[in-house]
Amino acid sequence: MTQLFSTNDDAVDLLHADHLAVKDLFAQYQQLCSAGAPCEEKRELAGRICQALSIHSQLEEEIFYPELREAIPAGALLDGCEVQHDMTADLVAQILSLGPHDDLVDARVIVLGEHVEHHVRREREELFVMARNSRLDLRAMADELNQRKSELMANWQPEKA
Ligand SMILES: [Fe+2]
Ligand SMILES: [Fe+2]
Repeated sequence: MTQLFSTNDDAVDLLHADHLAVKDLFAQYQQLCSAGAPCEEKRELAGRICQALSIHSQLEEEIFYPELREAIPAGALLDGCEVQHDMTADLVAQILSLGPHDDLVDARVIVLGEHVEHHVRREREELFVMARNSRLDLRAMADELNQRKSELMANWQPEKA
């Protein structure tokens, strides 16, 4: 998720690519844990996971969810997704506030990964399908997402996550 989206994709492709990228980061974290990697190395990766998730959630909340809310009757589903984003943000804030040697860093990152996996499945199996079947211009939305993502990445401040 450190790269901008491809210009040929639509909004769902772009958000799905983010999901795959963050899944890969969580898998890398598990590998570091299994290998007994130094705390500092794990903390650096945890920071990148937090950045990826914060920016992705913000993109969805600013652009994807509101447009979907207008286009289809999925209010309850979107409400649930926003609550899941709040839970993600809480865990991200906890992780960013911990020092690298805190005993609970690994546990918090792993629980965050489980939570995000559940949320992402809900988006992929329900929201993304609805978006693709809607009248939304997902190509135009992709341009919006790309532009906003580059702004958020340029201005990322962990202490404000
Ligand atoms: Fe989401
Ligand atoms: Fe998502």
